[in-house]
Amino acid sequence: MTDLSAPITLNDGVAVPRIGYGTYKVGDDDAQRTVETALSLGYRLVDTAEMYGNEVGVGRAVAASGLAREEVFLTSKLWNDHHGRRKARAALEASLERLGTDHIDLFMIHWPSPKQGLYVETFEALLEAREEGLIRSAGVSNFLPEHLERVHEATGVWPSVNQVELHPYFNQPELRAWHAERGIVTESWGPLGQRTGSVLHERAVVDAATAHEKTAVQVIIRWHLQRDCVVIPKSAHAERIAENFAVFDFALTDEELARIDALDTGERQGIDPGGDER
Ligand SMILES: NC(=O)c1ccc[n+]([C@@H]2O[C@H](COP(=O)([O-])OP(=O)(O)OC[C@H]3O[C@@H](n4cnc5c(N)ncnc54)[C@H](OP(=O)(O)O)[C@@H]3O)[C@@H](O)[C@H]2O)c1
Repeated sequence: MTDLSAPITLNDGVAVPRIGYGTYKVGDDDAQRTVETALSLGYRLVDTAEMYGNEVGVGRAVAASGLAREEVFLTSKLWNDHHGRRKARAALEASLERLGTDHIDLFMIHWPSPKQGLYVETFEALLEAREEGLIRSAGVSNFLPEHLERVHEATGVWPSVNQVELHPYFNQPELRAWHAERGIVTESWGPLGQRTGSVLHERAVVDAATAHEKTAVQVIIRWHLQRDCVVIPKSAHAERIAENFAVFDFALTDEELARIDALDTGERQGIDPGGDER
């Protein structure tokens, strides 16, 4: 059986921890504190973005952690107003500056923003930056298959990762299978599915939590891992940051996984990446 505490290898040979600390809605000052906490607890992947406004805090936390830079896997994303070759390059350089590092491990296009029609050119800028060693891996976020196919047609490269909304209520089985066939790793954002309703009270989740003497959140995080997704839960609280990482001492059964799969509604909680909103 796959050791889920070991990194997963991307289609470009880069190894990524399967669980990371997400930082959306964590301000710059808080980010320094919470990322330091996460790193001290064993997290080795930190997910930030230009749009989160906390890259300075994240960079400070990495510097203060006492860990060597190579021990921490840093991911960031360029925002929608930085599509296009020149703007993408400038956005990457600004992220490097704010993070206080000479490279980002995985850099992503935050949204395809199809109304701009520039995501292919933007991805080409990421590939150039990868050649130069400014990033180690070129990924995307919120891309639909049609966007990924365009990128592949133009560059011959499948992005290494597609970070998408994914949780038990919207668990995207078709997209996950489509990614797997092409060697693209699926990374789950909003993994706890708490934007509407609460998946934490679902019978399938509560039963598994009781059976394994774990919390509902730990069951959901473990479900992501056993479904081969990289998962990046966010919490502003140290005890929850610790709880969310304590998921390597139990395994869900096939039946428990299937019951959680069955919670899928097929409906997004977030924005439609194919629409005009972004
Ligand atoms: N690419 C994209 O477009 C995109 C979009 C959204 C998010 N993301 C990334 O994905 C990461 C995760 O997504 P997210 O932050 O939206 O949602 P999430 O991780 O699914 O959920 C975060 C929420 O769950 C709560 N929580 C965390 N651990 C908990 C626990 N053990 N028990 C009870 N509640 C808990 C947090 O509250 P407290 O903080 O109060 O503990 C927070 O309200 C983000 O931080 C970001 O890095 C990417």
